[in-house]
Amino acid sequence: MPNPFYITTPIYYVNARPHLGHAYTTIVADVAGRFNRMLDHEVFFLTGTDEHGDKIVRAAKKENLSPRIYADEISELFRQLWPQLNIDYSAFIRTTDPAHIAVVKQVLQKIYDAGDIYFSEYEGLYCFGCERFYVERELVDGKCPDHETPPEIIKESNYFFRMSRYQDWLIEYIETNKDFIRPERYRNEVLSFLKEPLEDLCISRPKSRLEWGISLPFDDKYVTYVWFDALLNYVSALGYPEGPLFRKFWPHVQHIVAKDILKPHGIYWPIMLKAAGIPIFRHLNVHGYWNVDKSKMSKSLGNVIEPLELKNIYGLDAFRYFLMREMVFGLDSGFSESALVGRINADLANDLGNLFSRVTAMTHKYFKGVVPAADPHGDPLLTQGLQSDAIIAIREFETAMSGFMFHKALVAVWEFISQMNKYIDMTAPWVLAKSKSTSKQLETVIYNLLEGLRIISGLIFPVMPETAASMQRHLGNDPGKAFYRMSFLSKWGGLVSGTVIPKSIPLFPRIDVNKNENENESAEDISPEPDRPVFKPEISIEEFKKMDLRVGRIIKAEAVPKAKKLLKLEVDLGENRTVVAGIAGSYSPENLVGKQVIVLANLQPAKLMGILSQGMLLAAVDGNRCTVATLDGVVKPGTALS
Ligand code: ME8
Ligand code: MG
Repeated sequence: MPNPFYITTPIYYVNARPHLGHAYTTIVADVAGRFNRMLDHEVFFLTGTDEHGDKIVRAAKKENLSPRIYADEISELFRQLWPQLNIDYSAFIRTTDPAHIAVVKQVLQKIYDAGDIYFSEYEGLYCFGCERFYVERELVDGKCPDHETPPEIIKESNYFFRMSRYQDWLIEYIETNKDFIRPERYRNEVLSFLKEPLEDLCISRPKSRLEWGISLPFDDKYVTYVWFDALLNYVSALGYPEGPLFRKFWPHVQHIVAKDILKPHGIYWPIMLKAAGIPIFRHLNVHGYWNVDKSKMSKSLGNVIEPLELKNIYGLDAFRYFLMREMVFGLDSGFSESALVGRINADLANDLGNLFSRVTAMTHKYFKGVVPAADPHGDPLLTQGLQSDAIIAIREFETAMSGFMFHKALVAVWEFISQMNKYIDMTAPWVLAKSKSTSKQLETVIYNLLEGLRIISGLIFPVMPETAASMQRHLGNDPGKAFYRMSFLSKWGGLVSGTVIPKSIPLFPRIDVNKNENENESAEDISPEPDRPVFKPEISIEEFKKMDLRVGRIIKAEAVPKAKKLLKLEVDLGENRTVVAGIAGSYSPENLVGKQVIVLANLQPAKLMGILSQGMLLAAVDGNRCTVATLDGVVKPGTALS
């Protein structure tokens, strides 16, 4: 089978109910899994629960339950939540599964036999919350950096894993495999941690203190340290060492974790694999925290947000979109309902929703809901621009998705959505519809817009599967896997003319902020934030230099018949050029003559209303108002800008 793709989430502790942080990581894994299925990769997606250890014993005690019954209950909450968030996982592992326990014992024995586990007495600073020993320099003000409680000194005999032996190997491995840990800030964090000598890892807990765990195969007076047990889920779930899934999917694995568990995944886990003679995983993808009022959302701080509540109020796809678009993968993000509402109204209701209803409504109005055909003999420029915008969006989307830069992938899609909206303004289908002589052009324009929507519906599929399917249905397709294949999506012309499209529905209703305000006492956290700018993906200086920006002087300006927004300009760029600009709403022709402007001189010429435009005027558009960019002093026409 070509390209196996194995994606994992952390297995979550069963000491509390799932919250938005867990939902985020699991949705990320789902998005990555769906994207890889679009590429025709074979995907295995693992999630599950981490059930042993002291933390769980204490949580169970609080509820007056045995650890096993308590773990069953909470594990079930996770398992039931995921389908409600449309999470399409392949397997759900529990560390209490007998098959997992057998693998942990097998690996422990293997490492023990190889001489990498030894017995020794140890006295150290122990954090019960983290269930691990700390060394002095890891503490902040003498306290555990995670739980902000002072660790206790405990002394006991235990088994230790010789991690120190592998320190140099790991440093070299991380240095040679540049994106083994990504984004880079976390790679650097691990490398800087590895500058200090690595302590051996205490991997046992005496049963006198803790019974809820996996017995060591070589000493049944001890149970296995919960991290040594938990990390092995990633291989036990595949049926290590001989199972067919293991053979197929290991080591093509992408782990996803938040930065709280960088150290076990970036240090213990590769060393455990190395010591056990198992190939090392491909990538560790690390994201930041969702914060609420500047502190990490966590069960211990009690400031958690319930994913299902948000889904019920705002809809699942809007919620998934917000999480993926708002957080820059790798950095922290603040969660607020007002930011969520802001994005729903701006990106989903306005940009995508309006585009979708405008185009489908025009198809009904002008073609009775039948997809027209693009005119094969028509002006190719009517198609080429939009087509190349689509190709760029698809390429940027693919690169960003493969690199776990989900927000960038969505920015690329929304850039295309805005180009589609501009295409409508520029081609003005309602004008084309007025005359028989332009009916072929109208068919081409509407076909192109519907084709653009087909592509958009495919690109949003990993993040918003329900919306994607609904868009497909309203383009007259039966949504199925084939429609989301990257190979099909990226070929312009996939939409079949003659297809009948059903009457449209609003994809995303706007959320009326004021209405909420009246109903809700604490209206503050729902009030809208000012629109935040959506920046485009980064480009290099070389890419910027490809643009030939010139100072021009307008020597003639006139209205374009039948096009309310357009003006035909004669611009002196050292040579005279005709430029068609959509600024008639804000400028009358006589006020433009003599004006110094900035023109993109090497833009591929395009025909607008039958006039060949040989450049583009730079202008700022704020709502309906448009302001032409000019210069701070008089400059010779044709002067280059850089
Ligand atoms: O650490 N922001 O389980 P856990 C973003 N059992 N992500 C968050 C988050 C937040 N505020 N809070 C939690 C464990 N997460 C171990 C893992 S793996 C072999 C064992 C997510 O229940 C994020 O993925 O504490 C984080 O790494 C994970 O939940 C921690 O879950
Ligand atoms: Mg935790």
